[in-house]
Amino acid sequence: MRILVTGGSGYIGSHTTLQLIAAGHEVVIADNFSRSKPSVLGRLESLSGVPIKHHVIDLTDQDETDRLFAQGAFDAVIHFAGLKAVGESVAMPLEYYANNLGSTLSVLAAMRAHGVKKLVFSSSATVYGEDAPAPMREPFPTSATNPYGWTKVMQEQMLRDLGVADPEMRIALLRYFNPVGAHQSGTIGEDPHGVPNNLMPLVAQVAVGRRAGLQVFGTDYPTPDGTARRDYLHVEDLAAGHVAALKKLGETQEPVSTWNLGTGRPTSVREMVSAFAKASGREIPTVDAPRRPGDIADSYADPAKAQAELGWVATRTIDDMCADTWRWQSQNPDGFPEA
Ligand code: UD1
Repeated sequence: MRILVTGGSGYIGSHTTLQLIAAGHEVVIADNFSRSKPSVLGRLESLSGVPIKHHVIDLTDQDETDRLFAQGAFDAVIHFAGLKAVGESVAMPLEYYANNLGSTLSVLAAMRAHGVKKLVFSSSATVYGEDAPAPMREPFPTSATNPYGWTKVMQEQMLRDLGVADPEMRIALLRYFNPVGAHQSGTIGEDPHGVPNNLMPLVAQVAVGRRAGLQVFGTDYPTPDGTARRDYLHVEDLAAGHVAALKKLGETQEPVSTWNLGTGRPTSVREMVSAFAKASGREIPTVDAPRRPGDIADSYADPAKAQAELGWVATRTIDDMCADTWRWQSQNPDGFPEA
């Protein structure tokens, strides 16, 4: 298939692009590089051995998006593009709604105008909200605690409404748990824009000496060691989930399908810090800190639906995730080069 990958130079988009190419698909990337760097593309070319077609485009601009589709002849779209920093979304809600909803709306309008029916959408476990008991299952009600999360809830709703209006659509809502890790080569990985918000990139930056230490947010949670637990999954497993979902969209009769992508296994903050210290051979100094507002004790997937319907299962361990993140971080302490 010829696939438009929006946000294809980002963390998950870049790893998925490589696996799509390896599976025999042709990829066209659309990205405005607002949260990624163009130098990712050269790395993707070295790793895949093929030229990477890309367009620098603002997907909230309907005319630009239409022009892209007019020349694209796409069979499917994987829509990663979007803003994803929780704290920033609280400070700049209008930008989050405008960007995340606006880009999805113009991509959907262009898909309709050009008869493209298959869409894989990047959703998040954040749509389970604050009160859901782990393990989380797809039929649970959705909710959010911040504007970023609401943009995911709202986009899921828009896509479900579209599936009712146009039963020929084939849409996958993929609810990612906590993606971490990097490509085995150590040449692509997560390169957060500004100060990272998430645990793994912070731990990696402490290990490599970019930061002095890590705050452990909350040590009094009702978990075995008192720190919060998450379902970390390797970005390569996550990328494989997209390839599997895309294949399934060619077989299913359901206009809209929802799949959790996680391992189903919780790991605490302390467990993650020790695994990373072991993988890197570096000390990770920590200091106990109060809970972070909006955090929950336990978030992990029930991945049974993805396993049964996509034949997908996350195989890589926490040690793999730490080893691969460390290879990327130690070889690229400052992330991707500017040019
Ligand atoms: C966060 C977002 C979620 C988003 C996801 C991916 C919140 C409340 N949730 O998920 O909406 O989809 O990122 O971008 O922000 N931790 C520390 N010290 C740190 C950083 C994190 O102890 O310096 C802890 C957190 O309290 C949490 C765990 O590490 O218990 C994981 O945090 P993080 O990586 O930010 O992921 P989530 O909170 O699960």
